[in-house]
Amino acid sequence: MTEVPLRVAIAGAGMIARVHLDAARRAGARITGISASTPERGRAAAAELGTERAFADSEELVTSDDVDVVHICTPNDSHRPLAELALRAGKHVVCEKPLATSAGDARALADLAASHGAVAAVPFVYRYHPMAAEARARVRSGALGKVRLLHGHYLQDWLSEQADNNWRVDAAVGGPSRAFADIGSHWCDLVEWVSGHRIAELTALTDTVLAERSAVAARTFSATCEADESGPAAPRQAVRTEDLAHVLFRTDLGASGTLLVSQVSPGRKNRLWFEVDGADASVTFDQENPESLLVGSRRTSETVVRDAAVLAPEAARLSVVPPGHPMGYRDCFAAFVADVHTAVRGGGADGGPSFPTFEDAARTAALTDAVLAAARTRTWTEVPTP
Ligand SMILES: NC(=O)c1ccc[n+]([C@@H]2O[C@H](COP(=O)([O-])OP(=O)(O)OC[C@H]3O[C@@H](n4cnc5c(N)ncnc54)[C@H](O)[C@@H]3O)[C@@H](O)[C@H]2O)c1
Repeated sequence: MTEVPLRVAIAGAGMIARVHLDAARRAGARITGISASTPERGRAAAAELGTERAFADSEELVTSDDVDVVHICTPNDSHRPLAELALRAGKHVVCEKPLATSAGDARALADLAASHGAVAAVPFVYRYHPMAAEARARVRSGALGKVRLLHGHYLQDWLSEQADNNWRVDAAVGGPSRAFADIGSHWCDLVEWVSGHRIAELTALTDTVLAERSAVAARTFSATCEADESGPAAPRQAVRTEDLAHVLFRTDLGASGTLLVSQVSPGRKNRLWFEVDGADASVTFDQENPESLLVGSRRTSETVVRDAAVLAPEAARLSVVPPGHPMGYRDCFAAFVADVHTAVRGGGADGGPSFPTFEDAARTAALTDAVLAAARTRTWTEVPTP
């Protein structure tokens, strides 16, 4: 019997909204509509992207009767109010990270989702790279021995010049943390998921290396800046969010670790890299070269190339393109959305969701608050572990 497609609506029409839309279509959903920052932009986006309709605003979209699943792809400050409205209207919700701009708000949303029995997911999609899943399988199998050390970085360069600006820079829209909440959250989610460890205490140093930026309106990291805005006469905006963060931590299972997050590292585009060092072996994953995993030991080191025939089952299921034909970010998104939509239909893994949820996002929001607190007070800060 053919299933009736899920009815999906997408709030926001920027960079990531288009990725969600594509992934939802690949999962077989019907895209009922889209919203943007104004009704006119919403209509233009609906026409360009071929959705059935444009909603006048995101509030109308998340409460509409003809929608089963809402995807919230708007700037960070609107996540909490839109997700709350959607949950109270009985929708299933996919909400972009950071789920909220404070740990308290993220916790409240996770609790609300649980009380409504809603499927509530957050796209920490790097979990869906087959070789990241393979790293996790190897840790869980015991092949690395006892995990002693977690380390890595997440580096970008799209905010490295004074002319670079974006709504994320403005704490009123992006939230009080920028680099850590925006990308450090991805690293922590991924490394905690791969290692099974939880960061239990941390200390941090944050820095705003550009105290002022050109007051350029809306640009995303997928676009380039207007060159003439960078001249000496261009209006300037004071910056209060961090460009970079160093984090030193201990985990609940007795390992230690370091993380460097930066949005001002020239030449680094989206360098999410981590290593898990066990007593017997290590695994290293590089998101910009996601088709392989470096597995090292004292006597041999090998590059394991993605091939479903040699991967653990949980990694092999994500390896949907023949080896040698590169998979990437959009494939992660498609697999994530497919898992979420399966759960909306009542299917999926036994023993809880296989995808990142509002609970996971509440966890990264708690880490974000802890990083800001540790950097402010120059002390070690405990992070509650689940
Ligand atoms: N999971 C990931 O890998 C990932 C990657 C990129 C961005 N994100 C997240 O996605 C969100 C959007 O980021 P982006 O890069 O697409 O930004 P963007 O600037 O490209 O797009 C945001 C869009 O939202 C529109 N908008 C503003 N207020 C709105 C409202 N009330 N209703 C509807 N539309 C509104 C803006 O006009 C803009 O077009 C952010 O929260 C970001 O952290 C997640």
